[in-house]
This record gives sequence, structure tokens and C-alpha cells, in this order.
Amino acid sequence: MRIMVIGGGGREHAIIRKIRENPAAETVYALPGNGGIAADAECVAIGAKDIEGIVRFAKEKQIDYAVVAPDDPLVLGCVNALEAIGVPCFGPRKEAAIIEGSKVFAKGLMKKYGIPTAEYEVFEEAEAALRYLETAPVPTVIKADGLALGKGVTVAMTREEAAAAVREAMEDRKFGESGSRIVIEEFLEGPEVSVLSFTDGETIVPMVSSMDHKRALDGDRGPNTGGMGTIAPNPFYTEGVARECMERIFLPTIRAMKAEGREFRGCLYFGLMITREGPKVIEYNCRFGDPETQVVLPLMESDLLDVMRAVTEGRLKDCPVRFRKGACCCVVEASEGYPGTYRKGFEIRIPEEIREHVYVAGAELKADGGEAKDAGDETAGGHLVTSGGRVLGVTATGRTLKEAVRLAYERAEKVTFGNRFYRKDIGRAALEAVALAEVKR
Ligand code: AMP
Ligand code: GLY
Repeated sequence: MRIMVIGGGGREHAIIRKIRENPAAETVYALPGNGGIAADAECVAIGAKDIEGIVRFAKEKQIDYAVVAPDDPLVLGCVNALEAIGVPCFGPRKEAAIIEGSKVFAKGLMKKYGIPTAEYEVFEEAEAALRYLETAPVPTVIKADGLALGKGVTVAMTREEAAAAVREAMEDRKFGESGSRIVIEEFLEGPEVSVLSFTDGETIVPMVSSMDHKRALDGDRGPNTGGMGTIAPNPFYTEGVARECMERIFLPTIRAMKAEGREFRGCLYFGLMITREGPKVIEYNCRFGDPETQVVLPLMESDLLDVMRAVTEGRLKDCPVRFRKGACCCVVEASEGYPGTYRKGFEIRIPEEIREHVYVAGAELKADGGEAKDAGDETAGGHLVTSGGRVLGVTATGRTLKEAVRLAYERAEKVTFGNRFYRKDIGRAALEAVALAEVKR
């Protein structure tokens, strides 16, 4: 089979490695991929949002199957466009991707179908939103309606902060059109859990749960990032919570989407908060999480390509999806300064013995002694240099979470590049929760 994977981050690197375990995956293209992915797939310089370019390439190479990983192309209708030329895809059509593409849609869906989430109001005018904030309880949460590179959410501790967030989104258009409508929502408290799931619209199979670490610095301080590390499974996601989520959130969500004529096929990501009143939805994503995928897929026992194709063909019910026992940890190594400005172009060294545990996000290939080359250049025999904020993720699996965390850090220390920084406490909160649960038992 000729397979193409759209995207070029650590998540796509993990998906590609896992897909390649299936001998049917003869050729795997990554569009655009990156310098690290180039070791595992043929990278092609077509951007993930270039739907026309993607369709043209699929025709030209007679692609048999496509995996559309990032939110932007999904929301833009990449799956619709590929299906129109007869290429089966993993990922929702745009009618279903709206569950991530519009927070107003997602909140409305949950309200209509009684799915637990934070109370909220929608505003289309800054003036009305600001008036509402004058008497609204704080903390409160301001969310731009559309996609905003994960930066459209402000948790405001004071009314002034909240008002500033409203002005930035609606008047300054900091997130462009994404801020033309906003949601102001109730502040919830409790541990957060990410659950990725496979669904073909009828059947839903949750993968192993995980925990992201979104803040840049140790102790959950500093600005929000795309994710500085992950662990799986998430100790706060107990069997009882899992049962409740299935009954009150997962099944109702896919049934609601179907009832709306927006059947969801692909990976549906539930961002959950385990509140005192039970689990509630913080956000839906229409795709695999990054860097959650980097800890979930190493624990997957079943064949990813087989499961993906079962999802596409609507036969997930008959397809076993198994995860192994044990735990996984991913430590993201970034360029100092991220998520703000940072310098790049530093050489990356990854010792051979840990290479298979490293998923590359922001790096390009540079020919020895020459300029950086396009990823996928046939003659690319050069070395990797940093080209992004988040550069790579180093993972480890272990029998216990403690073992996985220890091993991930041992490996993380072996990577070198200029201007490197990473959090030293990935998994600490989870380990404390595990220890506490053992004391209580
Ligand atoms: P998102 O970009 O939607 O993932 O939101 C970013 C982060 O904001 C989440 O991971 C939560 O930590 C926080 N957040 C979002 N909504 C709420 C809420 N209603 N209450 C408290 N925290 C929230
Ligand atoms: N790690 C959060 C996300 O993928 O949206």
C-alpha cells in the first residue's frame, strides 16, 4: 500500500512509526514531515493546509490510504477532498471536524444532548461580553470560537484580565476570524485527563488515558505551550471514572454527532476535567493529541493501520483494539524561549541506541558543511538542526510509571542541541497521585 500522512510534528512521527509496523505499509509519505521523520518516511514539501496540493499529490502517486492528522486540514475539508477522488482516509470530514473547529458548536451540542461541561454564554459583540463580565463570577474562562493554534483560551483570575482577553480576541482580532465569536465559560477545577478514542460513528473505543503538561516551566508555571510532556495512563482516570465517561460523555457524543448528520469517523479526543461533580468536557479535538500520541501509541498492542482502516470502513465493532499493561512517558525538549521567540539552527545529536524512542517535531536536515536541505531530499545524508520551538520528544515505556519516567529522563539527557531546555517534572503530579492512592488503600 502507498500511504500518506498529513502533518509534520512529533505526533505524525509516532503515527508513521506505528503504521510502519504493518508490512502492508510499503511506502509511507509525510506531507510535509520534517528532518527527523525523513528517516522513517518520504517527506514531500507540501504544507498540511495546501488541500489542492495534497489532492494533486495523492492522484499523482496513486495513494491507497491517507491519514490526516492535524486540525487545520481536517477543519478545511481535506478528508472530503480526498474522498472525492476516491482516496479512503483516516480522519473526520469537515462536517464532523467542526466539533473542534467551533467551540460554539461544541458547547451547543453538549447543551442540547445533556453532556456534562462548564456552563457558558456565547457573545458576538465585545460590548455585550464586557457588560456580562461586570457581574460574572471569577475566575472565568474566555475562549475564541475557532482554531487558534491552541492559544485561544484564557483562564482569567480577575475581571480585568477577562476583559483584556475579550478585547484582544474581539477588537484586536489577535486570533483573526477565530475571535469573531467567543465563549465565556464557568471555571472548573480538578485534575485534567486526555482520552483519545477510535470511533467509526457507531462504536467508540477509548485508548489508554494520558496527562499533558501544558505549562512551559516546572511546577506548572510559565506560559501555556503546545505541551511539554505526557504520561500514560493517567492515574486520575480510574475504572469508575472511565465507566462514567463512557455512559455520560463518549457514547452520548458520538450518538449526538450522528443525530446531527455529522457522523464522526477518526480519532476523537476528549479533554476532560474530573470535577467534584464528576467528569466534564473541557474540549473536544477532532484528531490525535500532540504530545499525547507519543505516549499512547507505544502502549498500543494492536496494529494501528488495521484499526484505522476498520474505522474508515465502519467495522470497528469487529476489530480488536488492545493496549498493553505498563506506562509510558514523553519528555519534550524545546528551544529556550519557547513559546515566545527562540534561536534555531543548532545541531542535534541523538545517540543511535535511543533513536527509536525519539519523535522529532521541529528539526530539519542540513547537508554536512552546507545549507539546510528540504526534508526528504534524496541526497540528504546530513545532520539534524533545530528549526522549531518544540524540537523533539524522548519517550520510554516501563512496567510502572515510575520506571517509565526515570528511563525517559535518562534518555532525554543523552540528546544534545544548542539552546535546549525541558521540564524536569513530567509525571511528578501523576506519581504523587499514585503514591496517595496506595496510602489510602
Ligand atoms: P484548551 O486550549 O481548550 O485545551 O484549554 C487550555 C487549558 O485551559 C485547558 O487544558 C485547561 O487547563 C484550561 N481550561 C479550559 N477550560 C477551562 C475551564 N472551563 N475551567 C478551568 N480551566 C479551563
Ligand atoms: N496536547 C493537546 C492537544 O493536542 O490539543
